[in-house]
Amino acid sequence: MRPPELLIYPDAQAGATAFATELRLRVAADPELTLGLPTGGTPRALYAEMVRLHREEGADWSRVRGFNLDEYWPMAADDPQSFARFMRERLIEPAGFDPGRMRIPSGEVAEDAVAAHCAAYEEEIAAAGGVALQILGIGVNGHLGFNEPGAAWDGRTHLAALAPSTRARAQAAFAGREVPHRGITMGLGTILDAGSVVVMAFGADKAEAVARALAEPSPACPASCLLQHPRVTWLLDRAAAAELPDAHA
Ligand code: F6R
Repeated sequence: MRPPELLIYPDAQAGATAFATELRLRVAADPELTLGLPTGGTPRALYAEMVRLHREEGADWSRVRGFNLDEYWPMAADDPQSFARFMRERLIEPAGFDPGRMRIPSGEVAEDAVAAHCAAYEEEIAAAGGVALQILGIGVNGHLGFNEPGAAWDGRTHLAALAPSTRARAQAAFAGREVPHRGITMGLGTILDAGSVVVMAFGADKAEAVARALAEPSPACPASCLLQHPRVTWLLDRAAAAELPDAHA
């Protein structure tokens, strides 16, 4: 098994800029590349740079296929806190992606239709030939998507309960509203099926989760499942790499 690759940048902006350039090269070579995509604070600089590359340097993302990791459930697609809206406003529209080629689990399906929706999501990923490059952020508790500690490593797209700490961290963005208790997420098995994986982590509050994920496989840290994947790159800033053993940092 090839050990994970570690790329440590002075700051998030430097990491995001380098990764966006790399993505542009990959998409130039394979315009229909299928990406797995996260939301949250971590990918903001990457998406902003992809927008800049499109607007100022003519980068063409229009044939890329995208499958998002997760969405709150229940959640209206046009809600300011929906991941669907985040993607539309921060990447799909400003960077010139084709909305018809981008997918995200729906927070609007009725409860009795969720299982079928999740199965259809998996089928659509398979029909696209699988996710070639899965881009991830990591939670401070080691979660990937909404796969919280204890999640099955062979799980597929499903409705998951959010950990209390995940809901607490989201509370500020939701202002006075209640943060949903559940979300639809790709499973860890879905994530592990990707051809290659890039995990981005920036800032000191991610340092412990990054160190745990790279230490040893443990169900208590979902991201440690990536130790079983042969092609994983960790894209970190110095603060997020600070708790790695010296051999890494
Ligand atoms: C978002 C997602 C989450 C985040 C994680 C880190 O689609 O799947 O697992 O990647 O919670 O969030 P941020 O980037 O906001 O620190």
